[in-house]
Amino acid sequence: MRKLIDQFGREVNYLRLSVTDRCNLSCFYCRSDPGSCGIEPVEGSLRAEDYLKIGQVAAELGVYRIRLTGGEPLLHPGLTEIVGGLASLRGVKDLSLTTNGILLEKMAAGLAKAGLNRVNISLDSLDESRFRQITNGGKLASTLEGIDRSLDVGLRPVKINMVLLKGINDHEIEKFVRLTLDRELDIRFIEYMPVGGQHSRWSKYFISLDKVLEIAETVGPLSIVEGDHGGGPARYVRLEGAAGKLGLISPLSRHFCDRCNRLRVTADGKIKPCLFSNEELDLRPYLDQPEQMKNVFLKALQQKPDPGRSATNSLERMKQFEGMRPMINIGG
Ligand code: 5AD
Repeated sequence: MRKLIDQFGREVNYLRLSVTDRCNLSCFYCRSDPGSCGIEPVEGSLRAEDYLKIGQVAAELGVYRIRLTGGEPLLHPGLTEIVGGLASLRGVKDLSLTTNGILLEKMAAGLAKAGLNRVNISLDSLDESRFRQITNGGKLASTLEGIDRSLDVGLRPVKINMVLLKGINDHEIEKFVRLTLDRELDIRFIEYMPVGGQHSRWSKYFISLDKVLEIAETVGPLSIVEGDHGGGPARYVRLEGAAGKLGLISPLSRHFCDRCNRLRVTADGKIKPCLFSNEELDLRPYLDQPEQMKNVFLKALQQKPDPGRSATNSLERMKQFEGMRPMINIGG
């Protein structure tokens, strides 16, 4: 099997493919101009078949994990077709999707049938009114129904992403921790990143994950879950006897660039070699020229930055976010 190895010896086997930058929620931390997600024009978005061409080239180069992201990927009208096509590619072993869950109750069964393996669902509050506040009008019940449905149809493991926000949801840590006790959910706490020009908001709401383990320990004894967890950035622990795990993703207080295994493609067909850099390579001119598209992939691979030179403290890391596209346009 072919492998993509960058110039620092990292094996890149994971593609995050954004299929739209529209979203049906408008979480304030995800964008630079909260409030306009749903009405955003779909400028530059590609057709379902174009995402399949990109996925095929990536798979031929040695990518075996693909994650569909957004915006909100469930809004792409051809999503089932995209999932079906990617699932049938030779070499793709793990096809997943990151979603806010709002439309999952309706769509989970069809996606599982089309070949989707699993989902990550963003959920930042278990309180109805706070959920509405964070998401700018979202309905908590819809996301919770989406979670239940995903478990029912076997899109496992279901992982929950909770972006920790000081003064907004940090008092809910214990409630989230307890969710793992009897439900097969992996709850992942994520540090808020100042992506896309929102430094003042970031300074107000950023909080490191230090408190999470302290609070989890008051709930019960914890043990470290060993393993590389698919090469992802999360560290995992488990409460004794719990059905699910607790994950910690700390892009600011602990950097993990040395283990980076991914490339990102934006909804308008640009490869990003690194989340923390504005460098992008355009795939669109090569949608019908797979050999040339391969070369762009290989160029992006070679442009992945030196992990030894990535920021080692939060302040330096902050600088790396300057001028980035907001998360809604990158897909996390
Ligand atoms: N910082 C941290 N996580 C973020 N996400 C979106 N924006 C940010 C940010 N600024 C998360 C979402 C989703 C995942 C794809 O990225 O909550 O779960």
